[in-house]
Amino acid sequence: MSGIASLVPEKLLYDGKTIPAIGMGTFGSDHYTADQVAEAVRGGIQAGYRLFDCAACYGNEDKIGLVFEQAMKDGLVTREELFITTKVWNDMHGQGDVLLSCAKSLRDLKLDYVDLFFVHWPFPNYHAPFCDGDSRNPDSRPFSVEEFMTTWRQCERLVDMGLARYIGMSNMTIPKLEAVLPLCRIKPAAIEMELHPCFQQQELFDYCVNRGIQPIGYCPMGSPSRPERDKAEGDFVDMEMPEVMEIAKAHGVHPALICLKWAVQRGQIPIPFSVKEPQYTGNLACITQDPLTPEEMERLKHVDKNNRLVKGQVFLWEGAKGWEDLWDMDGTITK
Ligand SMILES: NC(=O)c1ccc[n+]([C@@H]2O[C@H](COP(=O)([O-])OP(=O)(O)OC[C@H]3O[C@@H](n4cnc5c(N)ncnc54)[C@H](OP(=O)(O)O)[C@@H]3O)[C@@H](O)[C@H]2O)c1
Repeated sequence: MSGIASLVPEKLLYDGKTIPAIGMGTFGSDHYTADQVAEAVRGGIQAGYRLFDCAACYGNEDKIGLVFEQAMKDGLVTREELFITTKVWNDMHGQGDVLLSCAKSLRDLKLDYVDLFFVHWPFPNYHAPFCDGDSRNPDSRPFSVEEFMTTWRQCERLVDMGLARYIGMSNMTIPKLEAVLPLCRIKPAAIEMELHPCFQQQELFDYCVNRGIQPIGYCPMGSPSRPERDKAEGDFVDMEMPEVMEIAKAHGVHPALICLKWAVQRGQIPIPFSVKEPQYTGNLACITQDPLTPEEMERLKHVDKNNRLVKGQVFLWEGAKGWEDLWDMDGTITK
């Protein structure tokens, strides 16, 4: 391994094996095409990214798979050096469907196995890609331990079959984890959650770390290009927070890079997205040099505004009061 890739720190998973401390996101949102994202993955491999966060619902795994295949053919990278994740979408939670979803992702990604297979959302509540924020599916229902475990058991079988090295959950809450973790035969290696300076989720973060579950942080820079349905009045802009801007000035870098340095030094794995070569190259390089001081890390703790950006309202069920119901705000699973 040469170049920046060899400088990127690694994190330990529960079994002592490693995962890169930063990865590249591949959700093109409503703005970037599958070809643009695949091209960024190609550039990302060249730049030294080894972890790629994919998902069936991003609609680009077939294009990204061609890039992985070519990169391995060209000897740029080996399969063992890559750490590739994918996720089952909400319409494929039913009995028998998870294996089909995994098989489709493997076919598209041109892989024999994925490194980490996530349950994308803990509900079977489906919404069409590119829907608007008010759209609701009449079949949506609240979280059910039984339904979730039906999905999770199938994920466990993917590990048994050698199709996934690890399995993980995403968009979970502590009450939901309390209910399902004791039932898991194979525990989640990682939990993907929204994490950025204005939304630090300290309690959930600590809960995972204390149980040997690695937090992976999405929207690490506050996702300025997120879909319109995920934009709400009053949302904070991480890269414009005075503390972030001042620390960026002191280091002579863009505020985006402060968000990423903070993430890696705190201990989550950020998965920044960009299709712009100078951005994604800089996003990776920044975590290998000029770390934040303990004082700066302490200052950034206070930037937290408990500002969730991906509120998930499109997954709500009939009778739900609002997006808060998805996140079990009162410490119990909202029914
Ligand atoms: N598990 C889940 O439910 C879930 C949910 C959301 C996201 N994710 C994953 O997390 C990944 C990252 O999240 P995200 O894409 O929403 O948010 P993000 O990484 O915080 O934001 C990406 C945007 O930030 C800007 N940016 C990137 N690098 C920059 C730099 N160096 N300087 C200035 N601006 C920069 C770019 O905006 P411009 O395009 O305007 O330049 C880019 O589109 C996704 O791609 C996806 O893989 C998972």
